[in-house]
Amino acid sequence: MPSTATTIGNFAFDNCLMNAAGVYCMTREELDAIEQSAAGSFVTKTGTLEERAGNPEPRYADTALGSINSMGLPNMGFQYYLDYVTELQNQPNSKNHFLSLVGMSPEETHTILKEIEASSYQGLVELNLSCPNVPGKPQIAYDFETTDQILAEVFSYFTKPLGVKLPPYFDIVHFDQAAAVFNKYPLVFVNCINSIGNGLVIEDEKVVIKPKNGFGGIGGDYVKPTALANVHAFYQRLNPSIQIIGTGGVKSGRDAFEHILCGASMVQIGTALHQEGPQVFERITKELKDIMASKGYNSLEDFRGKLNYID
Ligand code: SIN
Repeated sequence: MPSTATTIGNFAFDNCLMNAAGVYCMTREELDAIEQSAAGSFVTKTGTLEERAGNPEPRYADTALGSINSMGLPNMGFQYYLDYVTELQNQPNSKNHFLSLVGMSPEETHTILKEIEASSYQGLVELNLSCPNVPGKPQIAYDFETTDQILAEVFSYFTKPLGVKLPPYFDIVHFDQAAAVFNKYPLVFVNCINSIGNGLVIEDEKVVIKPKNGFGGIGGDYVKPTALANVHAFYQRLNPSIQIIGTGGVKSGRDAFEHILCGASMVQIGTALHQEGPQVFERITKELKDIMASKGYNSLEDFRGKLNYID
């Protein structure tokens, strides 16, 4: 039977599939459901310095080809998630986890990361540089200078395993520029992609979500080609020590297989998890293993990054 086991940095996972931040990760109860599922890990909702209520509802809508959301980073505050992942790491047989965070300003981000550095948490940390839904706050990773400054300061004090969650890029020059920044730092991973920011979905002449007059992040089928392009572009450009987590448009084993073929070491599921619930992991794991078996692949290493081009 093929194995979908993987590693990110020094952390091992029995399965390469997990949730995407924002889905099934707001409360301990939701995270626990992922912990008990066939997923190899979970990432917490992005935690901010203080608890946040987020944007007014309705702020999420399923659509024919995926979803649109403008949640606005509702969360219980980073300490809630830090306490939970620290508690779990001390339990026998616990999976390894990802703690997601960002401040509402660079100063807040540093305050949070310094507290995590001082804590007993030993797991992976994901700095979210890509939320498109907080009014007045641009997606940080679209500003390469600010991103560079933040990472330079972070790595002056932060010694724990850190990765970044990225927005989609759409231009080859931007892949080059972003990779040049990330290659300067001892990042363990980059996660491509967050939702495609600021789309608009209309039904009966009306927007379907309330915040920002209907503008929101797009996920699901719409985003898979963009996600695959970002995974592969960074796989080609980043130092081999920086691994890729692939996120975007995964609702079948075939989608997960394609992310890995493009270079992903782990694959996250967002919209499909929201629509189907945690049993989605069992289904997609089986589909992925069936594809691997049909091709004679025993492990992810047999095909990771081995995308074929047309001569
Ligand atoms: C949100 O809370 O608005 C979604 C999180 C994200 O896109 O980073």
